[in-house]
Amino acid sequence: MAYANLIVETRDHVGLVKLNRPEALNALNQELLGELNEALMKFDADDRVRCIVVTGSEKAFAAGADIKEMSEKTAVDMFRLDFFADKSRGVERTRKPIIAAVAGYALGGGCELAMMCDFILAADSAKFGQPEINLGVIPGMGGTQRLTKAVGKAKAMEMCLTGRFMGAEEAERAGLVSRIVPAAKLMEEAMAVAAKIADKSPIATMAAKEAVNRAFETNLAEGVMFERRLFHGLFASEDQTEGMAAFVEKRAPQFRGR
Ligand code: HXC
Repeated sequence: MAYANLIVETRDHVGLVKLNRPEALNALNQELLGELNEALMKFDADDRVRCIVVTGSEKAFAAGADIKEMSEKTAVDMFRLDFFADKSRGVERTRKPIIAAVAGYALGGGCELAMMCDFILAADSAKFGQPEINLGVIPGMGGTQRLTKAVGKAKAMEMCLTGRFMGAEEAERAGLVSRIVPAAKLMEEAMAVAAKIADKSPIATMAAKEAVNRAFETNLAEGVMFERRLFHGLFASEDQTEGMAAFVEKRAPQFRGR
């Protein structure tokens, strides 16, 4: 299916979504986010896809929500639309791992979108920021919460209050991104990491994602119990039998997602 603001393809077991609104540095408007929602839900329902990569261009992952579109809106419009909650739900609902491959600007809603993904692989050109304060507003897609959890209060507060951007190295030091790669290698590396994840049991990768995400929602004892129950449950999967048999037999496992 062709999208107006995305390029979507599947390579082996990896689903790739490229945000494609170059004239606006991939600013997120309702149409683009609606399409992203749809593309992710399709990948989530497609058994061939085991890992997803979301990326932008060399210059911008996304420079934020579309300010021109937002500037026309009233508080009632924003409330009625539940602005971007509905449209970004696809990212949060996707059960398969999603890697954000970020080069250039990831600002405002762009930074928030990247943080909604499961982890961020950054090009050395990446710049993260929550500059909404310069527009007389604040982040509205989880930035104050996810950035604070990722980098701690001091940096999150400074970024949200001043609009200062964070470069890739600082973002890695602060724990916002998993790794930095040279910009020219970003997609090659992101696809390689995604392929590595796609080689695992898709049941186990979904369980791992749920368990890690639980750490953000609950206390340690509950989180550990949740993890243990998922761990126990995985012993009902053929992939667990196969994974452990393959180790014992000194061969590569063939995971089938059952
Ligand atoms: C709409 C945008 C845009 C945005 C860039 N453009 N960002 N359009 N919304 N967020 C458009 C510009 O208007 C311009 O189009 C074209 O993209 C290129 O941008 P330039 O500014 O000319 O590029 P440059 O000088 O390189 O500066 C890059 C930049 C700057 C630093 C990223 O564009 C910028 O500051 N953008 C806004 C970043 C921002 O404030 N983001 C937060 C948005 S609020 P034209 O046609 O004019 O040439 C937000 C809230 C999220 O995200 C919460 C939602 C619920």
